Amino acid sequence: MGFDTLVVNGIVVTATDTYAADVAITGGKIVAIGEGLPRENTKQVLDAKGRYVLPGGIDVHTHLDMPFGGTTSADDFETGTRAAAFGGTTTLIDFAIQYKGQSLRTAFDTWMQKASPKATTDYAFHCIITDLPDARIGEMNDLVRDGVPSFKLFMAYPGVFMLDDATIFKAMRAASKVGGMICMHAENGGVIDVIVKQALAEGKTAPKYHALTRPTTAEAEATSRAIALAEMAGSPVYIVHLSCNDALEKVREARDRGLPVYAETCPQYLYLSIEDMDAPGFEGAKYVFTPPLREKWHQEKLWTGLKQDHLQVVSTDHCPFCFKEQKELGKDDFTKIPNGGPGIEHRMSLIYSGGVAKGRFSVNRFVELVSTTPARIFGLYPQKGTVAIGSDADLVIFDPKRQHTISVKTHHMRVDYSMFEGITVTGMPDIVLSRGRVIVDGDKFQGKAGAGNFLKRTAYSGV
Ligand code: URP
Ligand code: ZN
Ligand code: ZN
Repeated sequence: MGFDTLVVNGIVVTATDTYAADVAITGGKIVAIGEGLPRENTKQVLDAKGRYVLPGGIDVHTHLDMPFGGTTSADDFETGTRAAAFGGTTTLIDFAIQYKGQSLRTAFDTWMQKASPKATTDYAFHCIITDLPDARIGEMNDLVRDGVPSFKLFMAYPGVFMLDDATIFKAMRAASKVGGMICMHAENGGVIDVIVKQALAEGKTAPKYHALTRPTTAEAEATSRAIALAEMAGSPVYIVHLSCNDALEKVREARDRGLPVYAETCPQYLYLSIEDMDAPGFEGAKYVFTPPLREKWHQEKLWTGLKQDHLQVVSTDHCPFCFKEQKELGKDDFTKIPNGGPGIEHRMSLIYSGGVAKGRFSVNRFVELVSTTPARIFGLYPQKGTVAIGSDADLVIFDPKRQHTISVKTHHMRVDYSMFEGITVTGMPDIVLSRGRVIVDGDKFQGKAGAGNFLKRTAYSGV
């Protein structure tokens, strides 16, 4: 008798409770939680004294090894999951893209081939649908059955990803019948396209025009339309990467009416603003992603939204492109800058620091935002997202006092800049376990490529 691993002397934190207890792990699962668990014959004891024992972070919005904007995102499933693990994130949900004319299954198979030999932590997929003739709608059902119960649709990027309202409505109706969740990129792509063309015609080509041509009203209008379409279809909807108060108001109103509407925001919208795009020369390109950065006052509205549950999740939308050679593709034309920013590594610390250390919300709310609610909405709970007997032993021994200044010099993402360069966070992961294996110990990575499992998720059944 004896456990594989015992985490002792820590403070266990879940979405609802904070208490002193040891956590015992055998066979990759949590098998006991309690004070003074027996240590005899236990193979490994980890001392969490003075630190929190958190469920591993779940980032439900990443783009690893993704072809986009004429290039490919700089982190693959090995470097991306490794960087995520250094930041305390032990599960990712990435996006498998269905290109025009392809089956949804082809998208899934393609992304499985990218991920399975490389992922160092567990992972799952949403499916991005770009082409949905009536004959393909049944494929959504098959994908839900195969463990991919969520679909990202775009109201932006005309000619690339954008779908019309009728197609969105059909997809929502189909999803609602089989427990599928629609994740919506909500920006009015048609209007933005007109504004972008006008800016280019006026010679406005600098990176900042990416933001200036995508007004908050375009995001709010699309958010409102997505909610209305979902209401008519009788389906839940999850608004991804919400960036501004205008869109937040639409989500809040819908939730007040009792609709199954959810939304995430990302650390960049909480910490950065359009002023960052005034960086000298072409440096503003580092902050070209979609939706764009907003005026600074939106940040506090988003923090309040997180506190008051108008926003339920913090993801990263990690979509890294190097400044050299990748962002530089758009030196003479902001529309050619590949859209996306790196963030997979620092989500947990940025949200703990700005949320808990700054007194905006409790440590339990923090766990709810970065792990428990993502697991619940996306069919991973209680295997992931909590510290409970029977759950996977994805754990983070987190030092709430340790400070760290974020920098490209020390980060683990395969990208040549940091969006959060120079920001000092309070609260850092010390030791990270994935299914009971220590994969990060301080600055040492002990995981290995291919050790991550694909997670077959269950269908949405209400949260
Ligand atoms: O700029 C972004 N967000 N790039 C990734 C694709 C998306 O829309 O999420
Ligand atoms: Zn998007
Ligand atoms: Zn994205």
